Amino acid sequence: MERTEKGPFLEVRVVVPPLALEAVMAWLWDRGAMGVQEDWPGLSDEGPVLSGDPREFSGTELTAPKDKIEIISFFEDIEQRDALCAELNDLLQDISQWCPGAAKATCKTRLLAGKDWVAMSRAHFTPTPIGRGLMVCPPWQRPPEGREVIWIAPGMAFGTGTHFTTAACLVLLEEALASREAARVLDVGTGSGILAIAALKLGAQVALGVDVDGDALEEALANAAQNGVLDRFTVSKALPDPLAGPFDIVLANILAETVVEMAFALRKLLAPGGDFIVSGIIHERAEWVAAAMADLGFAPVRELRDSAWVATWYR
Ligand SMILES: C[S@@+](CC[C@H](N)C(=O)[O-])C[C@H]1O[C@@H](n2cnc3c(N)ncnc32)[C@H](O)[C@@H]1O
Repeated sequence: MERTEKGPFLEVRVVVPPLALEAVMAWLWDRGAMGVQEDWPGLSDEGPVLSGDPREFSGTELTAPKDKIEIISFFEDIEQRDALCAELNDLLQDISQWCPGAAKATCKTRLLAGKDWVAMSRAHFTPTPIGRGLMVCPPWQRPPEGREVIWIAPGMAFGTGTHFTTAACLVLLEEALASREAARVLDVGTGSGILAIAALKLGAQVALGVDVDGDALEEALANAAQNGVLDRFTVSKALPDPLAGPFDIVLANILAETVVEMAFALRKLLAPGGDFIVSGIIHERAEWVAAAMADLGFAPVRELRDSAWVATWYR
């Protein structure tokens, strides 16, 4: 998320019901946000905590109220302050047609000095233990020993490990890889490359990261280099020809609609008995995705969920 130390930056905050989370976050990214964070109020006394705090899926009860989430976003262009708020309020009115609480949301803004932005974004990224043996860590931190470290410098591409959808994928990936030797992995919607890099560090033979966003692919390559796995990692803007397969594991942390749209093509790329790990699905879409996967012959192996998201490992 950190990109520049210049400033000032525009911070836009809005509190929404969980059902509106995905639509508002997608809109903020589309509107040009440099960074978008979720803060589940009450989760910690130490300032904002991202959804995906490891406590949510490593056993400690989530004590925060689950009916409201604050979305904090950052923009470079401070001139658009009023226009952005007006457009966001229009969006919330539209959303309130299917999510009544959204109409009550109000948008708050303030200007941040560049150093505040950098400090804020850095403060969010501390070494994060995930699953049985992984640790996601920004390069300026020193992680405790004992886990396989995935070095990720938070950039513009999605995938720092702190979001539940990513962390849940990592947990399931680690389990799927435990029973496979020299797996070939396809990571669709690779973003920062975090899932593919984790697969390679856990023993996968090769990984292909696919993303429609060319900037994300550059970041994924840089992260792969930082982790010493560049020689086994390739990237592409499009899905490979089925002849390039088969892959033993396919990972897709994308929106529900995209997963369902691509599932048929992805099945053709999977080896018989292959694993397909799907994340990024909001509760309301989970049954729909599961039905589409069942139609294609996939059976669920294991599921992880937090208060907003579902991740499922199919075979
Ligand atoms: C939620 S991020 C996941 C990033 C990372 N894999 C993770 O788990 O943290 C989704 C990524 O999918 C990419 N994406 C969206 N639609 C796509 C599509 N149709 N094909 C490939 N990538 C897509 C986006 O550009 C984004 O980088």
